[in-house]
Amino acid sequence: MNIAIVGTGYVGLVSGTCFAEMGIDVTCVDIDQHKINRLLQGEIPIYEPGLEDMVKRNVKAGRLHFTTDLTTCLNNVEVVFSAVGTPPDEDGSADLKYVLAVAKTFGQNIKKYTILVTKSTVPVGTAKKVKATIQEELIRRGEEVDFDVASNPEFLKEGAAIKDFMTPDRVVVGTESERARKIMSRLYKPFMLSGERMIFTDIPSAEMIKYAANSMLATRISFMNDIANLCESVGADVNMVRKGIGSDTRIGKKFLYAGCGYGGSCFPKDVKALIKTAEQNGYEMKVLKAVDEVNEKQKQILFEKLQKHYHGELKGRTVALWGLAFKPETDDMREAPAVVMIDKLAAAGCTVKVYDPIAMDECRRRIGDKIIYCKDMYDAAMDADVLMLVTEWKEFRVPDWRTLRKIMKQPLIFDGRNIYDREELWVNGFGYYCIG
Ligand code: UDX
Repeated sequence: MNIAIVGTGYVGLVSGTCFAEMGIDVTCVDIDQHKINRLLQGEIPIYEPGLEDMVKRNVKAGRLHFTTDLTTCLNNVEVVFSAVGTPPDEDGSADLKYVLAVAKTFGQNIKKYTILVTKSTVPVGTAKKVKATIQEELIRRGEEVDFDVASNPEFLKEGAAIKDFMTPDRVVVGTESERARKIMSRLYKPFMLSGERMIFTDIPSAEMIKYAANSMLATRISFMNDIANLCESVGADVNMVRKGIGSDTRIGKKFLYAGCGYGGSCFPKDVKALIKTAEQNGYEMKVLKAVDEVNEKQKQILFEKLQKHYHGELKGRTVALWGLAFKPETDDMREAPAVVMIDKLAAAGCTVKVYDPIAMDECRRRIGDKIIYCKDMYDAAMDADVLMLVTEWKEFRVPDWRTLRKIMKQPLIFDGRNIYDREELWVNGFGYYCIG
């Protein structure tokens, strides 16, 4: 089977490589010549555990190709996945210009029955626009070529993307025809060996599932952050509350961790987009508006605690930040709580020393030189008045408290992910703040 994936961003590159790993012939297409050149040389533009080896292996086996030429590639593929970006435009809605550009090229060039599958997260109703764009081009050509559109949302978690793709909880495909359904079934069959997990729906439902799933997960987090903040006022411990409620199987244990807010390329954007879609349809998503509001506030919570601790006197303090990426195992800093923290601390006149195992270059690119980049976690903590844990990378889990006590100006920890043991810190002579 031959397929093309348009867009070699996070979703496109991971999906293409995983399909190739299953023996499918995959051509990854991108308009960015520089990116394609780098990929051809085996350079991976993103950090994702296991991806580099898998790309190299499949390129070597002749199953994974990279090109900027979508037109030629459309001649000999059965399925085209569109995984191009949908950056938010000024009013926060997804900008569909790349998605529709792919549809246009598809309509201008297909010679035989082909399916255009949208993998990018797009607002409900986009498939209709994609279909109309293709039809328009076919009419312009004056030719009749059979095609189908489908929606196949992606549920990859950064840092675990390969595992998520290879052994998915479910694969959702929205289609309008039996023919497309059969081809999509065949394509995903190798990923279903340990049980059938394909869910076929109509197209709008598939588009909606992605937003509803991310919004539900974001809701759990904001709910727990709200509970955590209340726990502090009433003397309860959110970790105990989490265990207590999570063992109810209807609630479940996952995604109940309070912290300094959710970030990343999906939750913040998708929650806002669903609120917008509702507005455009004359409906108000009250719960989601609160989810978003709570999260914006939560990203400032460590700063507020610090301000309270020092009675508003932050000027001249040195603050060490451990963790910059929005979560461990990625260099992604999109919507990361660390960005909000750095801005607030710098504006308050603090010296900010940072360390992240992977995201240092990304941080330099985003934030520039108003902060100090350190070579390791202890270098960051050196002479700091306070240490803030923002991203729970494994290497931060069991620090050498004795060394930290020696090198820090003051033994004070703000734990934004609740990974440390309060008693242990007290025994080691540290002041300790956490969330909830
Ligand atoms: C998410 C979805 O999980 C994935 O299915 C979808 O396709 C894309 O969006 P990702 O953005 O990679 O994936 O991150 P995820 O691991 O879900 O974490 C999102 C954010 O929530 C992180 O900032 C994380 O720190 C935070 N989080 C997660 C919490 O604060 N508490 C939790 O209990 C879980």
